[in-house]
Amino acid sequence: MNRFFIFGTFTNAMVHRMTHSRARIGKAIIPAAGLGTRFLPATKATPKEMLPVVDKPAIQYVVEEAVAADLSDVLMITGRNKRPLEDHFDRNYELEEALTRKGDDGRLARVRESSDLATMHYVRQGDPKGLGHAVLCAEPHVGNEPFAVLLGDDLIDPRDPLLSRMIDVQGRFGGSVIALMEVAPEQIHLYGAAAIKPTDEVDVVRVTDLVEKPDAGQAPSNFAVIGRYVLDPAVFDAIRKTEPGRNGEIQLTDALRELSHRDADGGPVHGVVFTGRRYDTGDRGDYLRAIVRLACERDDLGPEFRNWLRTYVTEEMQE
Ligand code: UTP
Repeated sequence: MNRFFIFGTFTNAMVHRMTHSRARIGKAIIPAAGLGTRFLPATKATPKEMLPVVDKPAIQYVVEEAVAADLSDVLMITGRNKRPLEDHFDRNYELEEALTRKGDDGRLARVRESSDLATMHYVRQGDPKGLGHAVLCAEPHVGNEPFAVLLGDDLIDPRDPLLSRMIDVQGRFGGSVIALMEVAPEQIHLYGAAAIKPTDEVDVVRVTDLVEKPDAGQAPSNFAVIGRYVLDPAVFDAIRKTEPGRNGEIQLTDALRELSHRDADGGPVHGVVFTGRRYDTGDRGDYLRAIVRLACERDDLGPEFRNWLRTYVTEEMQE
């Protein structure tokens, strides 16, 4: 007799959760092939992911986050003008030798940190045809296992871990998991927006539909998709079937919309609701906020910088 027949009243999702054996997620994909037009002219010849957040390029925080979630196999999707990304995670023998000669062990260690972090792989997205298309470029590397996607310009504060929670949720619920953040109603048109239903876990919702950058008044909720995903490999087929959408790009959100309507084969899609600190370093305002906040909190720079900032703000308020 079928063991689930004995219990009779289990829902499909419950059965799925009980029978799903957790595939170990070991690979992180970091799409970083976008044009970064919001940050021109800085990004004309420099990838936006290389812009410094205090004294580390934004992308290093993202790779560190992947490693902190036990994902040390990292595939970066790059494109034209993105060579500095590869150089940053490679050794720089000349620089290392110069620092060794000077006996500057502190800086030497900082320089080596990025090349010792993870096993890095790179693939080029010939034309930036959209985030969905960028993720599809990872298929030969990923194979048939669930995997994580971290957007290269999205910075999650290391003290507010999100990815490990998402991996945990994917292990128990199966399917695919996205990260959601509640935003102001006037901001939702900048994001993918999710239609959601509650689950029995306070920070987890079932995603029932998704709309990329909804027109004013058309968003199904104020829950915005942010740049962390744990995806079932069925997403690759879904992307292949996805027609160009918003801005003529192949949108990952549109492929995930398809998966959100399924109970298996890549679905269901759950969302982990994030309430921590997150910065879109591809947006000039958010980039500035990230630098000020992270600089204030640094032991080496913070005390002096905070004092200066206090004086500056006081003077500004008086004008
Ligand atoms: P964004 O839309 O934020 O990146 O894509 P963008 O196109 O570079 O930015 P703007 O709007 O022109 O300033 C989100 C993420 O997807 C990657 C980007 O690098 C970014 O990490 N992406 C986007 C790709 O890798 N390939 C693409 O074709 C599009």
